[in-house]
Amino acid sequence: MVSPGSIFTDTAAFADEAAWHAAARELRRHRPLLRVEADGWPPFWALTRYDDVMEIERRPEVWLNTRRVFLQPIDQSAAQKASGTDMRMIIQMDDPDHKGYRGLTAAWFRPATLRQTMDSRLRELATRFVDQMAATGGTCDFASEIAKFYPLHVIMSILGVSESDEGRMLRLTQELLGPDDAELQRPGEERDQGLVETILDFFAYFQRLSADRRSTPTEDVASRIANGLVDGEPIGDLEAMSYYVILATAGHDTTSSALAGGLEALIRHPASRRRLQEEPALIPNAVDEMLRWTSPVKQFLRTSTEDYVIHGQTIPTGDQVLLSFAAANYDETVFEEPSRFDIARPNADRHLAFGFGKHFCLGAQLARMELRAFFSELLPRLDDIEIAGECQRVQANIVSGFKHLPVSFRMR
Ligand code: HEM
Repeated sequence: MVSPGSIFTDTAAFADEAAWHAAARELRRHRPLLRVEADGWPPFWALTRYDDVMEIERRPEVWLNTRRVFLQPIDQSAAQKASGTDMRMIIQMDDPDHKGYRGLTAAWFRPATLRQTMDSRLRELATRFVDQMAATGGTCDFASEIAKFYPLHVIMSILGVSESDEGRMLRLTQELLGPDDAELQRPGEERDQGLVETILDFFAYFQRLSADRRSTPTEDVASRIANGLVDGEPIGDLEAMSYYVILATAGHDTTSSALAGGLEALIRHPASRRRLQEEPALIPNAVDEMLRWTSPVKQFLRTSTEDYVIHGQTIPTGDQVLLSFAAANYDETVFEEPSRFDIARPNADRHLAFGFGKHFCLGAQLARMELRAFFSELLPRLDDIEIAGECQRVQANIVSGFKHLPVSFRMR
């Protein structure tokens, strides 16, 4: 019998979304706090209800990110530690460090700054990629030909990475986020060794970028990181590398997944697509509904610093809980008929696709702007669109979404 906790550990489970959500619904109803002990995985308690995820997010002084935030097989964590490629990203920090490091780039990611710095660039990139879609002549694999590249270009713009490095950046991000997916993982290496090599490549690339921004600072985010001071001291190499890696990865596959999943939802709900074409003012709300609907970041862990009672069960100090953002976004006590895609949903923006609290996604506003810019450009030009083949999702338990979404369409 398949254990109910396997929907969090088995990367293949995320590739079958309908089955995944059916299993998560059962857990929300009957086992909202589930102890999971799977071979080869660290034990944890899984939370699937919206209010429970929020409760933990609201208590960062009790529930830490430092010890373990990504649910990985035990061997993989050990291989990373042994190779010295264990990272120190802001998602893996708690205060006071978290505050100091997040503060280095927080102003850059504020809505007002982004509107000034990124608005026209996003429009330009959205037009470029919608043109590219049109140039395919009416059929393309939207996930692998369009959705993958548009957010990648946005990230490269904010980090100041040159366009000639696009292919390399794409390959590294996919290897890092899809080590269990045969199509994405690093070829010719054992799984864990491949992952270590990928991280080393990332480090080597960003080390050169950092050295460049130290000698010639610009206005980009990379310069803020390379020249950043925390408590008056320059930040360490590991912290700087980890910062580039989290921006490059957190800002890429996540947004690609929301974009491809968002378009798929509009294709499967043609009345919603037509309504959005007639009422473009609904696009921001529709984008939030797409984020809820797709929940590209599936889950993160937190570690308790005290015995903590939830659902009448004491979780001992040092144990880990898993916050299932994907399950919480379909909680029927918060979202009426959660399995209905509703671009006019009145509380769509309450979704937890960006998490909540101190670690709330730093790039949330940028991601929303990217998605709005793309659909604002695409929808007025789109006459018709349908699914044109087998759609496939990535097998991964941190970020997952479509890797293949064949579509055929007519455009103006
Ligand atoms: C649709 C796109 C995106 C989704 C669904 C997403 C989702 C998330 C989630 C769930 C978290 C963790 C929140 C928590 O633990 O409560 C997070 C954190 C983070 N995200 Fe995003 N993200 C997206 C796009 C981006 C972009 C575009 C960037 C930047 C370029 C970015 C940078 C970050 C960073 C740096 C963190 C760590 C924040 C911290 O620990 O303080 N993300 N994101």
